[in-house]
Amino acid sequence: MKKDKLIIFDTTLRDGEQSPGASMNKDEKIRIARALEHMRVDVIEAGFPVASRGDFEAVQAVAAAIENSTVCGLARAAETDIDRAGEALAKAKSARIHTFIATSPIHMQMKLRMQPEQVVETAVNAIKRARRYTDNVEFSPEDAGRSELDFLCRVVEAAINAGATTINIPDTVGYNLPIHYAELIRQLIEKVPNSDKAIFSTHCHNDLGLAVANSLAAVFSGARQIECTVNGLGERAGNAALEEIVMSVRTRQDVFPCDTGIDTTQIMTCSRLVSSITGFAVQPNKAIVGANAFAHESGIHQDGVIKSRETYEIMRAEDVGWSSNRLVLGKHSGRNAFRTRLEELGFKFDSEEALNDAFRRFKDLADKKHEIYDEDLLALITEHDLENENEHFKLISMKVGTETGETPTAKIILSVDGQEHASEATGDGLVDACFKAIELSVNSEAALDLFSVNSITGGTDAQGEVNVRLKKSGVVVNGQGADTDIVIASAHAYINALNKLYNASERKHPQLSAV
Ligand code: KIV
Ligand code: ZN
Repeated sequence: MKKDKLIIFDTTLRDGEQSPGASMNKDEKIRIARALEHMRVDVIEAGFPVASRGDFEAVQAVAAAIENSTVCGLARAAETDIDRAGEALAKAKSARIHTFIATSPIHMQMKLRMQPEQVVETAVNAIKRARRYTDNVEFSPEDAGRSELDFLCRVVEAAINAGATTINIPDTVGYNLPIHYAELIRQLIEKVPNSDKAIFSTHCHNDLGLAVANSLAAVFSGARQIECTVNGLGERAGNAALEEIVMSVRTRQDVFPCDTGIDTTQIMTCSRLVSSITGFAVQPNKAIVGANAFAHESGIHQDGVIKSRETYEIMRAEDVGWSSNRLVLGKHSGRNAFRTRLEELGFKFDSEEALNDAFRRFKDLADKKHEIYDEDLLALITEHDLENENEHFKLISMKVGTETGETPTAKIILSVDGQEHASEATGDGLVDACFKAIELSVNSEAALDLFSVNSITGGTDAQGEVNVRLKKSGVVVNGQGADTDIVIASAHAYINALNKLYNASERKHPQLSAV
């Protein structure tokens, strides 16, 4: 018997970006959106167009770049929001407007200062306006998880009558338990007279660690769309993790009445990309995408797995893309093998010149490190993008010195808008000395919010991937750098963050901008 489709709605670029510090610029959003499209995500929520010019442009760019997924823009139930979302999505092959208004007593009284009747009317007007731009309109009664059932039924019925085709039920504050959330969805579908005219969707936050459990429980009550994010990124404790949702449904097809269309082998690529762009590391014991998710340490387990994998493994590592850890290319690999492997990883080169440039960098890396893994290729592409970042600041050369009992020093030559600046500083360590030397030439006055180093693969010749988060006047940026030398990678990451700060001053982080 053919099963129902479970629609996967990814909101990494919108709710995910609302994590403090998880800022992404337009190019980064396009890269993540392409990876999501390649993974066959059904709907990509690309941002909140009215929030800022930067958000508007990012949604517009994602809408123009994506062909096979629906691109969605968020809008409050207000004319200006809806119009801005409609404009941003104008070039999308398939567009959805997602509009919301709060329906819980506390939100209506304290935040909106509206009577319930006004809330229903505002929702209906917003949906009707959104229908002028697209017939694919989603409505969310915000804080539905703490709303009164009878009022929720009224709002949902009116929303469907006004033209909403998806009804999303957010547990905005992550308060619900699986048994209650599943019951809420069941009652809504049963009590709302026109519920058969819309798809019911889940949107669960993870404040009690229940976002995935709540979303999956709702599927058994009839929900056929799940809103989620890669690595569970999102406001506060995050949203339901896409990889956990998708792999639960796939692994337990014996009980689920539906299945997703996701290409699960792309999960690791998406996870690494989101982690590298946002600077949010994945914890080692994270389900599906954590470094230890498929590692068997105990001798009894190892023995069992060698004899028969199913003794201790319920999923195959390669089904979620972990096999990408195998050796892929080496010093003698050609341009075609390089291009093909990157295409398999979801990257398309815009021009032959871009391919040649990346290939030259690959050869340089292969000289230093003869075993090149997928992770190295992904970092190399990030580096390649860094090169394309509108470079106001550029590292020309660096020299560092350290010795037991001596203070570390760094000499840096930096090009600032085409002019060379030399500077020298000491620090608590080589990285500290480098950053101080760079600051002597740049004087950014930005606060360093995050500095993290990750080994991309195993071995002492592994590339170190460095993330640097800078914050200044409400603008948050994440810079990345990768090199077999972590001090050089750190300098690249810092300079990359400075360039982003320089180019992004018009776009405040959604957490910091008062919409
Ligand atoms: O958590 C929430 O309520 C939201 C809505 C905008 C859907 O993110
Ligand atoms: Zn949310």
